Amino acid sequence: MINPIQERAALIARQIQTKIVRSPQLGLVLGSGWGTVAEFLEDSVCVPFASLDGMPHCGVQGHAGNFAFGNLEGCAVMIVQGRFHMYEGWGPGEAILPIAILYELGVSTVVLTNAAGALNESFHIGDLMVLCDHINGTGKNPLVGVHATNEFPVFVDMTSIYDAKLRLVLNDVCDEQGVPHQTGVYMQLLGPSFETPAEIRAFQKFGADAVGMSTAIEAIYARYLKMRVVGLSCITNMGAGLCEKKIEHSDVLSCAQERGKIFAGVLRAFARRLAQGA
Ligand code: HPA
Repeated sequence: MINPIQERAALIARQIQTKIVRSPQLGLVLGSGWGTVAEFLEDSVCVPFASLDGMPHCGVQGHAGNFAFGNLEGCAVMIVQGRFHMYEGWGPGEAILPIAILYELGVSTVVLTNAAGALNESFHIGDLMVLCDHINGTGKNPLVGVHATNEFPVFVDMTSIYDAKLRLVLNDVCDEQGVPHQTGVYMQLLGPSFETPAEIRAFQKFGADAVGMSTAIEAIYARYLKMRVVGLSCITNMGAGLCEKKIEHSDVLSCAQERGKIFAGVLRAFARRLAQGA
């Protein structure tokens, strides 16, 4: 065991192992509105968070709170439906617990998905953004207090946190399917309030292209565990002050849900490429 979070994850993973037949290769963490892909799982097994000792309970609108296992286009997949957002009061240790569990179950590649507001004014609502980097604006780091080992140092290099080769695969898949896509820097903030227009202008100057309330913390932890990481944002709105309209959580959800089928197609094709050796 490398740290107390992994110890907790290992206890949860052991309970899950009794319910699944095949170790997952790919982990999909589904953010707001990204749920559709789970409908395409074959031979699926659903494990509610509530059925697992040691698992926190989550309850945000649009987040189910399950692990789903199955075959997606020939790839053994584990889907995380539900996050432990820090804006709900969870600490970084809970926020990254699903990542720790993915690792314990053998997942080597993880796709982190989210809904995000655009800071880049050339982006359009409904675009898919492939993350090329992030800015962790939460003031928290999931590796604080983690005991470093030779195999798992905590001074983790973050130069290429989002896997360059897999980003190319995603761009290719989007081109094939005619899905409008952008590449950009994601900024994670604590939330839950949306940003002020002054903050949005400041974050544009930082070099962020989109802003949201998840993902960066998970990506840091997944890289610490040496997993391959990709990140995908559904651009659900323009950042505060960049258009007339006020930002509503219900609009964020409905935009992401509207794009659900198309983005599920991207995730399915990505899983197929992974099964073929990408
Ligand atoms: N800000 C922060 N998080 C978000 C946004 C936003 O504009 N849209 C979707 N998630």
